[in-house]
Amino acid sequence: MTNRPLIIAPSILSADFSRIGEEVRDAVAAGADWVHLDVMDGHFVPNITFGPPVVKSLRRWTDATFDCHLMIAPADPYLAAFADAGCDIITVHAEAGPHLHRSLQTVRNLGKKAGVSLNPGTPENVIEYCLDMIDLILVMSVNPGFGGQKFIESQIEKVRRIKAMIGDRPIDIEVDGGVSPETVGALADAGANAFVAGSAIFKGNGKDDYAANISAIQSAARARSGA
Ligand code: DX5
Ligand code: ZN
Repeated sequence: MTNRPLIIAPSILSADFSRIGEEVRDAVAAGADWVHLDVMDGHFVPNITFGPPVVKSLRRWTDATFDCHLMIAPADPYLAAFADAGCDIITVHAEAGPHLHRSLQTVRNLGKKAGVSLNPGTPENVIEYCLDMIDLILVMSVNPGFGGQKFIESQIEKVRRIKAMIGDRPIDIEVDGGVSPETVGALADAGANAFVAGSAIFKGNGKDDYAANISAIQSAARARSGA
């Protein structure tokens, strides 16, 4: 259960990259709260996506919150570029560098919300001493790198532990990977309030299908979150 607002954040990784601006516009028109931007470097994760110039050009298509998930190492040299490109939340992986607290400080100093992401194999205690620097915790429920993977059940318990650890701090708990109407209920019950979904949202044919896909996730989450 959570008292934070319910957020649905479509991941454009599953969108049609040849029409990425239109896809972002349609996802927002379909009811997306945030747009989740998966940045991959072919080094921290075994896949490559896009960088700040693409984010900057997408900024022209919507005013919605850009929730930027950096799967890159090192992240620190690029934080200012992603802030300038128009990201609102910048999430770094705890595993991506030796100075998590410094990375979070840098994001906050750039005037952006600071997020930290944990791979499925990373325990939540690595963020215990950074909680006052964190606006969002992104729990990976697949190994990062690709859309359409199978949800890793053990992460539900991690969400529950994180919820207990943060107490009444104003921190969003977001889950990414294999989120669907089937998996979102248990995550909402465990205390997550923000849900990334790629393949479960960008399926079908454009805005009307995206709207139905988003509302199926919303209803399943609401049924268990009390929101
Ligand atoms: C995976 C990305 C996710 C991905 C989720 O590395 O961080 O955002 O797009 O895709 P689905 O929802 O299809 O698991
Ligand atoms: Zn992501």
